[in-house]
Amino acid sequence: MCGIIGYIGSKRALPIVIEGLKRLEYRGYDSIGVLVYDQDKKEVYLEKQPGRIQEFVKTAQLDKEGSLAIGHTRWATHGGVTKVNAHPHWDCAKKIFVVHNGIIENFQVIKNSLVEKGHKFRSETDTEVIPHLIEEFLKQGLEYKEAVRQSLKIVKGSFALLIFNSDYPQLLVGARFSGPLILGVGDNEFIFASDPTPISLITKNVIYLDDGEVVFVDKGSYTIESFLGHEVAAKKGVIDFEIKEADKGDFPDFMIKEIFEEPLALENTLRGRLILQEGRTKLGGLEMIEERLRQIEKVVMVACGTASYAALVGEYFFEEYAEITTEVDLASEFRYRKPIINDKTLVVAVSQSGETADTLAAVKEAKEKGALTLGIVNVVGSTIARTVDAGIYSHAGSEFAVASTKAFTTQIADLVLLMIFLARERKMSLVAGKEILGELLELPEKMRSILLQSDKIRILAEKYSAYKNFLYLGRKYNFPVALEGALKLKEVSYIHAEACPAGEMKHGPIALIDENFPSLVLAPKDSVYEKTISNVQEIKARKGKVIAVTTIGNQELERLVDDVIYIPQTLEMLTPLLSVIPLHLFAYYLAKKLGRDVDRPRNLAKSVTVE
Ligand code: M6R
Repeated sequence: MCGIIGYIGSKRALPIVIEGLKRLEYRGYDSIGVLVYDQDKKEVYLEKQPGRIQEFVKTAQLDKEGSLAIGHTRWATHGGVTKVNAHPHWDCAKKIFVVHNGIIENFQVIKNSLVEKGHKFRSETDTEVIPHLIEEFLKQGLEYKEAVRQSLKIVKGSFALLIFNSDYPQLLVGARFSGPLILGVGDNEFIFASDPTPISLITKNVIYLDDGEVVFVDKGSYTIESFLGHEVAAKKGVIDFEIKEADKGDFPDFMIKEIFEEPLALENTLRGRLILQEGRTKLGGLEMIEERLRQIEKVVMVACGTASYAALVGEYFFEEYAEITTEVDLASEFRYRKPIINDKTLVVAVSQSGETADTLAAVKEAKEKGALTLGIVNVVGSTIARTVDAGIYSHAGSEFAVASTKAFTTQIADLVLLMIFLARERKMSLVAGKEILGELLELPEKMRSILLQSDKIRILAEKYSAYKNFLYLGRKYNFPVALEGALKLKEVSYIHAEACPAGEMKHGPIALIDENFPSLVLAPKDSVYEKTISNVQEIKARKGKVIAVTTIGNQELERLVDDVIYIPQTLEMLTPLLSVIPLHLFAYYLAKKLGRDVDRPRNLAKSVTVE
């Protein structure tokens, strides 16, 4: 994870880097560090601190001159959250400075050999080997750029790096291997960053870097090379999408704002993509691959966290409606399973950020095996969006809270659209296609009606805020919703919650149940309702408290459970789009009651770019 940024040009660099770090903070917020080089005084100014950018700007000296700066916002991997471990890191002579996102997997071997050669390390980080390694190559007589190239050939793992050497004050180096890094090219100014949001501060013209590429921005121009030193053509692009400023509006936190945006996000996702009369969907991103899609015999979805739960919902309706064998793989495990995929397999990567390292690695693996790859991605221009063969953007709008909410519902909606796209080419009837699309259009209003109950759900969450454990249960389409509800509660409240299919409870988790272990049961009136209610009975027989989510009009649960939340009726396959909203609200309000930082929960980051 971590966010990195670097500026070299004609303006004062520090304000640009600070503003950029604010935009990159979602990538990690354990500590902040900046370096500014003042060309007139020939001085390096360095400042690093544990904590977030808000605290940093209060205490750091931000009046420094200099038109070169690099910055870093950290999500700790190697070494605790301390000032020493914050970036930038430097060499023995304190001339070569590095900010890094990723992990240097062979750092220990490199460090041991450098220590033997007399290098003195200060931090516990993997990053620090890089400036020392470059320093070592310089000592051996290599010219600076060559020393950088040689170092990049030795380090293994995933990285995006910026390197500054005060002996070469006109030169800023960026390098990438499996970590995101983009170069913005302005008018006599250059900006590197982990994503386009800080780049848009100065330019819309970007250069996307591929793995194994290094950029030397030197005296007002740039060259891109492979680590082997071969010149590489620039892959130019333009930021042609709107980058929204983080704005909470009238809401106290981004998370609650984004939960309340779920209906609008769904409307945006559906807009222009439904051909109601034909019961079909129109997905521009798929036009190029329509022929190959017809040949597909199996769908494999790869994703992590919340996105994987959206994919699991998709697995149920892909098999029920499109009748295509479908499986969901946690992207972080995909490669280890040696998955059986070929050119008749469609691999769908689901990701909000489009930068998740595990999901990206799974896409690359799938491509190597000849599969057709498709992205369901929210962030336009992200690495996964650029790597897959074709894609469907989520249109959830920027999601700033670390806990994913509106991305989840839009990912499910995208999967419904994709399923109909495929199913109508196969066996799905016009009537079935029209019914699903017609009901999809009703959902934003139905979501809004659930949000109107937010006060009631807040009171409920506060009532349950003293419990230390929760069990979330659901069957069929609502099993993945149970997983999502439990993850959300864990992430933002730090309360232990686990989820299992309601039918699995009797195979073990029921041992947990007593009066101090409440269950949140998803029990809409659907094809598995009766069976789910049997599980509720089993909990009640063991004095467990139950909060149930059920369909409006179903009064019978009032007598059986402790608390009931009602959601509107919809098609069974679409229930997750409604039943998840009370769970998002419940997690949010419970965490607020406990005084948690819901938007920036401890130990997490929005975009997980390490494996
Ligand atoms: O950006 P992605 O959708 O690929 O992220 C996947 C997970 O890291 C993400 O969903 C994570 O689980 C969230 N913190 C959940 O709220």
